[in-house]
Amino acid sequence: MQLKHLEPFRLSLEKLKEVSTRLRKDMIRGLGKHTHHRAAVKMLPTFVRATPDGTEKGDFLALDLGGTNFRVLHVRVMEEEQKMVKMDSQLCAIPQEIMLGTGEQLFDHIAACLSEFLDSQNLKGQTLPMGFTFSFPCEQKEIDKSILIRWTKGFNCSGVEGEDVVKLLKEAIHRRGDYDISSVAMVNDTVGTMMSCGYRDQTCEIGMIIGTGTNACYMEEMKNVKRVEGEDGQMCINTEWGGFGDDGSLEDILTEFDKVVDRTSINPGVHTFEKMISGMYLGEIVRLVLMKLTEKKLLFKGEVSEALRTKETFETKFISMIEDGLENAKKILTELGLTWDLVDARVVRLVCETISSRSARLCAAALATIVDRIRANRGLPHLKTTVGVDGTVYKKHPNDELQKAMHFLAPDCKIKFLVSEDGSGKGAAMVTAVAQRLALQSRLLEESDGEEDEEEKVRS
Ligand code: BGC
Repeated sequence: MQLKHLEPFRLSLEKLKEVSTRLRKDMIRGLGKHTHHRAAVKMLPTFVRATPDGTEKGDFLALDLGGTNFRVLHVRVMEEEQKMVKMDSQLCAIPQEIMLGTGEQLFDHIAACLSEFLDSQNLKGQTLPMGFTFSFPCEQKEIDKSILIRWTKGFNCSGVEGEDVVKLLKEAIHRRGDYDISSVAMVNDTVGTMMSCGYRDQTCEIGMIIGTGTNACYMEEMKNVKRVEGEDGQMCINTEWGGFGDDGSLEDILTEFDKVVDRTSINPGVHTFEKMISGMYLGEIVRLVLMKLTEKKLLFKGEVSEALRTKETFETKFISMIEDGLENAKKILTELGLTWDLVDARVVRLVCETISSRSARLCAAALATIVDRIRANRGLPHLKTTVGVDGTVYKKHPNDELQKAMHFLAPDCKIKFLVSEDGSGKGAAMVTAVAQRLALQSRLLEESDGEEDEEEKVRS
């Protein structure tokens, strides 16, 4: 079946290669001291300097904000069994009026949820080290100082962009006055995913999310991170690849439907790449294509239903359901008030497959850029590495498309995908645990240096 309206979504492997080359250049721009401020791909230093080595341990609190829910977790890292256990957790919905309200309302809501959890766990007297997964682009100044660059994924709370998120959280807790917290390590969800998978598989040095939004992080050589002092070792970089194309560099692959999705979003011009890939937008792209095909009388005998005419009524989860089987397609079309025949159901399925396959192939192009960069950084002819992955879009769709494209685009890299369970929450605990391990190691090193100096003095 051929539909000319779907052609612009079909990206050849050659085109994907071009996209990957463009991203490579943008990543270099994002890392540069003087080019960073104009770069569409932000390449944000995370101050996470090491992945787990398996000796981490202890009890931690983890906060997780990234979608329509906020979660608090109590996590125990057990060295002997090499595992992280969620002791307990609590979920608080973030209603839409808070997502679009003031920053103060948002952080008061978070502080209230945390208070309830600490009460229920009898943890108010203790000050456990805390990791905060905050899944939005932040300019991190230190591990516990993180300035929100901009909201994405439907959030738009006033007075938070340009502010330190840790400070806003602490202020909200002080306003309550019923408990206090000690240090907070700020983490992006990609970093959390990489770190939690990294505890299971110590070759994991990339984290990728394909969920409501999309993004990836990876371990970069410090000498290439020009905006942070120091040449030795590595640092995890949060690429914020969702912003790829915000400077117009993807104009040639944007379809008329992508442009409508962007124009009618709450953040036009922002996160162009994300809007072609992630769960927040895929359903809407499909809806717009179905509308167009119906207007052209290629579907539903030219009759659009009220539901199909309404923005965001075609949920992203419908795509994977329809890909799963024609029976689901029939059910969903009926629920959307459409009068369909078998050909209609088949066409709708083809539209879903095309949109989800473009998403997977674009992700592959971006991921290939990262793995090949790690390989080149290390001067290796071949690289074997693990990617920690999370997000409903990844988990719900068949991933052979992504893997096939990766094969072609990064032929010198052998990649294992490790699906993270609860990574963005547990990962925040792991970042805190690794930071503690590094601090302890450097204290021990200083002490032993001190002892050597003493011995030296006694000898002379
Ligand atoms: C945010 C990223 C985040 C990604 C996945 C994007 O909208 O900018 O920081 O990692 O969504 O949640």
